[in-house]
Amino acid sequence: MTAGRNVRNLALIGFMGTGKSSVGRLLAHQLRYEFVDTDDLLEARAGKPIARIFAEEGEETFRRLERELVGEMAAWKSHIIATGGGLAAEAANLESLKMHALVVCLWATPEAIWQRVKHQTHRPLLQDPDPMSRIRTLLERRTPIYRQADVLINTDLRSVKDVAQQVLHQFQDARGGRPES
Ligand code: S3P
Repeated sequence: MTAGRNVRNLALIGFMGTGKSSVGRLLAHQLRYEFVDTDDLLEARAGKPIARIFAEEGEETFRRLERELVGEMAAWKSHIIATGGGLAAEAANLESLKMHALVVCLWATPEAIWQRVKHQTHRPLLQDPDPMSRIRTLLERRTPIYRQADVLINTDLRSVKDVAQQVLHQFQDARGGRPES
């Protein structure tokens, strides 16, 4: 599946609340790779939270910043990248990630996602009178592209540790048993 590709990094993609950041942080610690959360990096660069980027500059600006960051990643090595939920939903971003990273999609049902995010308020796309149907609609729209990840892992009823373990196996396989070189 990754034959002929230069898998130097690991990218975690998938919907909000699927555990990309928690799993990514753990993996980076285990592999001694650098961890980057695209949301955190874009917030730090903008000097404001994502909700304010959306409110003050619009979602299009945020997506442009994501695309620019994806371009920068092509030069990275030994990074674990946790992406914002919409980043890999753009086909060109996903294609670009695949050039240098094993792309793993963390999956969860809308119900599990809602259970995980319902007490959080920092995601502008879920500030909706009917967040559950927003989750369903967005997830349905993005599913065809999320499915183009190299590996799909269902995170429902699984601990962060279990998911990380599974991702690690896939990464080792893709790198021919050389995760740290
Ligand atoms: C978004 C997901 C968020 C963040 C922004 C938009 C999306 O990231 O990038 O609020 O479009 O799904 P998380 O997946 O880390 O919550």
